[in-house]
Amino acid sequence: MRLTWLLSLPAVLFVASAVPIEKRDADFLSVRTKMHKDMSGKGGDPKEKYFHESIFHPHYDGRFADHELGYRERKQALSNLIQTYLATMADIGVETWLVHGTLLGWWWNRKILPWDSDSDVQMSESSMHYLASYYNMSVFHYKTPRIPDGRDYMIEVNPHYVNREQTDKLNVIDARWVDTTSGLFIDITTARYNWTHPAGEGMLSCKDGHEYRDTYVFPLRDTFFEGTPAKIPFAYKEILEAEYHAKALTLTDFEHHHFDQDKLEWIPVVKNVDSKKPPPKKEEPKKKAQPKKAEPKKEEKKTQSQQKGQPAGASPEKPPITKQPKQEQNSPANKPDPNRPNEQQKADEKILTAQAKREAEVKKAEEKRREKEQKAIKDAEAKEQKRKQEEEQAAAAKKKAAGEQKAEPPKAG
Ligand SMILES: *[C@@H]1O[C@H](CO)[C@@H](O)[C@H](O)[C@H]1NC(C)=O
Ligand SMILES: *[C@@H]1O[C@H](CO)[C@@H](O)[C@H](O)[C@H]1NC(C)=O
Repeated sequence: MRLTWLLSLPAVLFVASAVPIEKRDADFLSVRTKMHKDMSGKGGDPKEKYFHESIFHPHYDGRFADHELGYRERKQALSNLIQTYLATMADIGVETWLVHGTLLGWWWNRKILPWDSDSDVQMSESSMHYLASYYNMSVFHYKTPRIPDGRDYMIEVNPHYVNREQTDKLNVIDARWVDTTSGLFIDITTARYNWTHPAGEGMLSCKDGHEYRDTYVFPLRDTFFEGTPAKIPFAYKEILEAEYHAKALTLTDFEHHHFDQDKLEWIPVVKNVDSKKPPPKKEEPKKKAQPKKAEPKKEEKKTQSQQKGQPAGASPEKPPITKQPKQEQNSPANKPDPNRPNEQQKADEKILTAQAKREAEVKKAEEKRREKEQKAIKDAEAKEQKRKQEEEQAAAAKKKAAGEQKAEPPKAG
């Protein structure tokens, strides 16, 4: 009986381990259930390109989706996407921070900009290596009150992540967090230390062309995004201004939306009401007509540049943050901006106050610890002194006793 069990165990192990290995290598096109046609766009991409955007929209993964979502559906899916991503990364101990349009959304109301159709985050090179080593193709199932039907999210790491060079233009995205139901995803890029940067030490480069001085990024600030704990670069304001120009931080009419100061929400502007606005661009022929569509101009630009194989967000009129000014002692990111909407300023102040409070607490704790240490050292010294004294006294007493013994010979008897 026992022998049988022992003999069959290796066989069981073999079967159990064979399944995941096979699964890992499976082409997702062959395991999809819902679709009849390859929408992955893989056919038209160069062989060296790892991630394939769908043929109907560059922000959908064609292995999992064959159509665009409507405005509301997409907003909800993107919100769930970033929440599950942030929660998962926190769970597995990967430090990640918001960038680009996602950071701009955070600036306004701690939410995704409703006209965006993807999210952008960054992480360090060691974090990316960790993801690649332990979590590539891992699927995380989330069933929450906000995702009552349950959804699978997958981490996929580009094998070209080991190539640090910006010349690898087809693989500027290092990893993705993919919603396997809608096909929407988060682009994850690595901020690598650039050892040959002309600006010297401390420069971070991404393969998509974005560059940052590390003191602008670290220490990261703790905050919330879409109601979930998140991190943002230290000098988020300068980073946003360099990437989008200062106006993007104060302009309340943008991409056919108006920012409602009371609700702290971007509200879609109904077409034709605002006659000063130029008419929206014609939709691409392939796109299906959607009732409530608010596709941004910016995104179309990005699409074209991506199709040309150029890095996203690196259009000539918007250079990435190259030569940044040297970090000043008192970063303007810490100062209130008179042009900012009141509510945003208040929210910011709250974050800064919390940060200052935490710093003060840490300082206090450190002082306390030092005091304790000093006292412990003094106590130990006093104890040692006392011990020595006692020893000396004991020795003296012994000597004295011995002397007395010698002087007084033992009585006979
Ligand atoms: C992640 O897994 C996929 C599928 O097996 C594979 O094609 C890709 O090369 C892997 N990435 C890394 C970084 O190993
Ligand atoms: C380092 O920075 C230079 C200047 O921006 C850039 O040309 C080069 O590609 C960067 N190297 C890496 C590894 O990112």
